[in-house]
Amino acid sequence: MMKRILITSGAEAIKNKMKFKKKILCIGAGYVGGPSMAMIAYKCPDYRITVVDTNPDRIDAWNSAQLPVYEPGLDKIVKKTRGKNLFFSKDIENQIKENDIIFVSVNTPIKTYGAGADMAADLQYWEKTARQILKHSRSSKIVIEKSTLPVKTALAMGKILASAKGKIKFEILSNPEFMAEGTAVNDLENPDRVLIGSHETKSGLKARAELIEIYARWIPLKKIITSNIWSSELSKLVANAFLAQRVSSINSISALCEKTDADITEVAKAVGMDSRIGDKFLNAGIGFGGSCFKKDMLNLVYLCSYYGLQEVAAYWKSVVNINEYQQERFIANILNRMFGTLAGKKICILGFAFKANTGDTRESPAIYISQKLLAEHAQVIISDPKALKNAAIDLEGTKGNVKYIEDPYRAAAGCHALVILTDWDLYRTLDFRKIYSSMVKPAFIFDGRNIIDHKKCFAIGFNVYPIGKPALSHFKN
Ligand code: UDX
Ligand code: UDX
Repeated sequence: MMKRILITSGAEAIKNKMKFKKKILCIGAGYVGGPSMAMIAYKCPDYRITVVDTNPDRIDAWNSAQLPVYEPGLDKIVKKTRGKNLFFSKDIENQIKENDIIFVSVNTPIKTYGAGADMAADLQYWEKTARQILKHSRSSKIVIEKSTLPVKTALAMGKILASAKGKIKFEILSNPEFMAEGTAVNDLENPDRVLIGSHETKSGLKARAELIEIYARWIPLKKIITSNIWSSELSKLVANAFLAQRVSSINSISALCEKTDADITEVAKAVGMDSRIGDKFLNAGIGFGGSCFKKDMLNLVYLCSYYGLQEVAAYWKSVVNINEYQQERFIANILNRMFGTLAGKKICILGFAFKANTGDTRESPAIYISQKLLAEHAQVIISDPKALKNAAIDLEGTKGNVKYIEDPYRAAAGCHALVILTDWDLYRTLDFRKIYSSMVKPAFIFDGRNIIDHKKCFAIGFNVYPIGKPALSHFKN
């Protein structure tokens, strides 16, 4: 598709600048920065929102017909606001000068070097951004942490920004984003809560009130909660840790179910109906992926170790360990069930995204599982409605025979096994009879998400291996 770049004329830009009540900038046009700013622009037509990024291709993509992030409903919102009160720009310096409120949503990956390697957050981009703000600001500003950051980051940022000359003052707020991918638009429009952390000084409370005013445009005040800045930073890490912990808890029990005659879906239902426990986040599977859970868990573990809380660190580290164990178990099951060898066998992977309704593959269990299958010399055919481009990038350089075919029917033809790794709805309604007839027999299904009708597939002729449920096999021991 041809990229259509929107250009606003100079005169129009000046006119726009004059008429807006608030001027807001976001540094970092990623999965978080882009959608969250689009929502503010959509809900506040009298505010001007500009999003900048150090990666010019990202900005071009946000200005084109093909947005860099696939998120249901996002296209519509961007179309309604872009060029009116939502702008994507490459001119970071001037935008810092022009805007009074700056959200920072740059990435904070796991550090790969030095102290805290493989655990701590790499804050170099955050610090670089703070220095950039300091260098180009000509007036006082509110700087808002939108990235997930280890506790006390605001303190360090405050120290850097406090070196500003003259009357320029920076007030730092923490406003973590809780939206999940695939449901970002709904999460942003109807969040469970908005959290704003600030210093409890006069200027801190004033800045906090200014941010509340933005969200109050569409979010009921009772859902906008405030705290001190450290509680806010920690709450984001803890919310993700609790969610990840639930996934690991149910996955650990799925292993026990496979050794007994229990069924994980039945157990999850019975447990989840206790209103004290709740029924969400109890789907057993191949483990959690995504850019946040593992990174935030390891961050929390590092933080606890740093403060000498070894028992607490070990407790949270076990959540990550179970996630890895679940993937190892899944791979070992494929190998064992397929007679101990995958060499030369064709395996069709259905779903590469880390969850449904996104093209994002960051930390997707599918990466590791594909690599392991390739290491066993299997031929791997990967199918996904949105994530094939990212899958190819993730597996670049991995040795072995791998193909990418979007159509699941073509991908499965001639294969020995189907391996379901993402809970895309479309896999629930596939014509498995048609697929079975095109596969090598005996045909296997490993349902890593428990989303298809196992009994029906067994009746068609497949040997079916779900997670945390008895296997449905045509083999006589
Ligand atoms: C990021 C963080 O990973 C997450 O911890 C945080 O909660 C929110 O921000 P996400 O938006 O998913 O999440 O990351 P990504 O899609 O990688 O976007 C970050 C963007 O920041 C990238 O487009 C990158 O080019 C940009 N960036 C990075 C800058 O503009 N300046 C920098 O110095 C570094
Ligand atoms: C998460 C948090 O939910 C969100 O609040 C935060 O802002 C960012 O991190 P996200 O990573 O987009 O959001 O997706 P989420 O829906 O939380 O799923 C994370 C992973 O857990 C996915 O791989 C998903 O498939 C897996 N999962 C989730 C399960 O395996 N079982 C479940 O029951 C739920």
